[in-house]
Amino acid sequence: MSAGELDVRVTRKRTEALDISTFELVQVDGRPLPAFSAGSHIDVHMPGGITRQYSLCNDPRESHRYLIGVLRDPGSRGGSRTMHDEVPEGAQLRISAPKNHFPLVHGAAHSVLMAGGIGVTPILCMAERLAMTGGPFEMHYCTRSRERTAFTGRIAQSGFASKVQYHFDDGDASQKLALDDLLARRKDGVHLYVCGPKGFMDWILDAARAAGWPAEQLHYEFFSAEVVRSDADAAFEVRLASSGRVVQVAGNQTVVEALAAAGIEVQTSCEQGVCGTCLTRVLEGEPDHRDMYLTPEEQAANDQFTPCCSRSHSRLLVLDL
Ligand code: FES
Repeated sequence: MSAGELDVRVTRKRTEALDISTFELVQVDGRPLPAFSAGSHIDVHMPGGITRQYSLCNDPRESHRYLIGVLRDPGSRGGSRTMHDEVPEGAQLRISAPKNHFPLVHGAAHSVLMAGGIGVTPILCMAERLAMTGGPFEMHYCTRSRERTAFTGRIAQSGFASKVQYHFDDGDASQKLALDDLLARRKDGVHLYVCGPKGFMDWILDAARAAGWPAEQLHYEFFSAEVVRSDADAAFEVRLASSGRVVQVAGNQTVVEALAAAGIEVQTSCEQGVCGTCLTRVLEGEPDHRDMYLTPEEQAANDQFTPCCSRSHSRLLVLDL
């Protein structure tokens, strides 16, 4: 077991909504779990050698359990299907300690929490935390339909139910999210948090940027991403700065795959450009960023990239490896 990893048991598996299940995890040895802050996720190592990241969605004051929510995704590369079909109550899993790439800014004048579909998991945890500390906030929860909306009972019973507005794609016009109005309403000291599918996040974040929201007030986390591979992807070369060794990356290969074939391991986790585990410094060349992890500003600096999914615009990339 690597440092910081934990063996947990699924003590409760519950259907929360159509295609969404929650898994309650407790430590196998019965000890309290490491503390976590709102917005944290864990790596879950599941049967078949698959590792995926799931946000913790329970109250961050709890130490006896972690709660994760998993959407059965028909386009799944195996992670969500495995959790739904092969991880019953009583199953044992190995997880990482919580990590937080999506923390709340404390002391904000107001927080706008925006969840799309299963992206509600970290957002719900943030709502719990803000409700507890008295931080002013509102939460918007957008889903395809009421039957696909998880945690409605928990929200209804919470002390913050009045701060949550639901927006269903199949609902009438009066309940649709009036995004432009919302973004025009508040700016100073207001922080916006977004989690959901890529199309949802692009919609919110593009509108917020167009409305003049500064980058430091926009916070987001992609919970999963499509890895864009195209037959038109060009081959290129990477050179390892330490040894000068040059490795060819074929059009149908990722940099991580090409390096692995050459006997060079780069640590990965999500392999989707979401988690940042594989982040590697770039010393020369222009990466073709395809990740969701780096901010637009960090991508533009071109001094680091995610070799699990990103490629190269230049013929050669020199990597700090
Ligand atoms: Fe997660 Fe590359 S392994 S970003």
